[in-house]
Amino acid sequence: QTADQNTKILRGRLLSFSAVARGPEDTSAYSYEEDGALLVRDGKIVAKGVFSEIRDAAPETAEITDHRPHLILPGFIDTHIHFPQAEIIASWADQLLDWLNDYTFPTELKFENKAHGKRIAGEFYDALIAHGTTTAVAYCSSHPNSVDAYFEEAETRGMLMLGGKTMMDRNAPEALCDTAQSSYDDSKALLAKWHGRGRAHYVITPRFAITSTPEQLEAAGTLLKEQPDCHLQTHINENHNEIAFTRELYPDAGHYLGVYESFGLLGPRTLLGHCIHMTGHEMQVMRETGSVAVFCPTSNLFLGSGLFDKAGMESAGIPTAIATDVGGGTSYSMLRTLDEGYKILQLQRQRMHPLTSFYWVTLGNANALSMSDRIGTLEPGTDADLVVLDAKATPPMALRMETVETLSEELFILQTLGDDRAVAETYVAGERQKTG
Ligand code: GUN
Ligand code: ZN
Repeated sequence: QTADQNTKILRGRLLSFSAVARGPEDTSAYSYEEDGALLVRDGKIVAKGVFSEIRDAAPETAEITDHRPHLILPGFIDTHIHFPQAEIIASWADQLLDWLNDYTFPTELKFENKAHGKRIAGEFYDALIAHGTTTAVAYCSSHPNSVDAYFEEAETRGMLMLGGKTMMDRNAPEALCDTAQSSYDDSKALLAKWHGRGRAHYVITPRFAITSTPEQLEAAGTLLKEQPDCHLQTHINENHNEIAFTRELYPDAGHYLGVYESFGLLGPRTLLGHCIHMTGHEMQVMRETGSVAVFCPTSNLFLGSGLFDKAGMESAGIPTAIATDVGGGTSYSMLRTLDEGYKILQLQRQRMHPLTSFYWVTLGNANALSMSDRIGTLEPGTDADLVVLDAKATPPMALRMETVETLSEELFILQTLGDDRAVAETYVAGERQKTG
């Protein structure tokens, strides 16, 4: 293929964000082009603008794909998901700790077998693509095998994915437990193998304080010190029984976050799942360290965990991200996730505007990952990971759209009524994944 034949034009209604909208009328926070186009070459966005101008400047051989009247946005980013839990999504359980013991740990045990990991990885990535998610941050199981299965599948599909081996050395079935030393050795080897290979990013992944001895959290801190450009992910303050058990296991820590703080696990590349039941002091430590609070709405409702305080986080100056948390979460869809998140915020009289919602699942999450130089935007030079959205995907949506006049209304319908049916196409590095 010559460079010209390799160049494509994607035509559609372009929408991308540059900041959090300060209100419904804040048009400076986003860029919208009614008849827009992206020029894509070698997996990257080369130019963005009005269709006629892009076409005139492009090589004549450039193939044109017309997605009108659909919207073209940066692909969705899911900042917290469990790859080995794909088989137990929608399991009837009590709250967090019972759900972990009854369903989660047994299913994660199966990932000792590489072939199982490979099969679930295929299904998992199919689900992400179907739902318009082009980047995710995942927990693999404690088996190094599962990390290989996860990144091998991402590599085949050309996807920018983050993830790591779950470190866990107590309070779980023995066959799922590693040791402080083996978790350090295995994580280090996987990190050396995968981090920066193609689009892969390794994430240091101690599950949470309950399933880690102090020695293991120390090992996680050592890994992070050795590799400061890696992310670290864990869970915190999701559930009252979890918090009480953590206090018993770490009686000397003044508060839950203090456990992670004392082992050097906090910083701007640290993603803390849930952050629901936070003390004022913990909020202050979050802000001082720049650690990211990850909101998982469908999971928090499904497991009866509690209500995330977005406004509280933001007024405290804490960066936030939003995520599905499948299989505690009940949908792969970032649209369903926004809808449930909206309702959680409504209960606290924190109404989220649709411009804020769609900022959050694109640029907002990219910012939370410190990756907005590559993903979450439609800016030239960034990766051509895209989602194409159809707000009339179902009859009820089409009916509702008959009376819609503004972009914000359309976005709100996509968020409230949409799911994978509203995802007309997903592009990974410039390649069509759904219908191509
Ligand atoms: N806390 C520790 N492990 C998990 C998990 O797998 N899911 C959720 N939601 N919370 C956790
Ligand atoms: Zn989780």
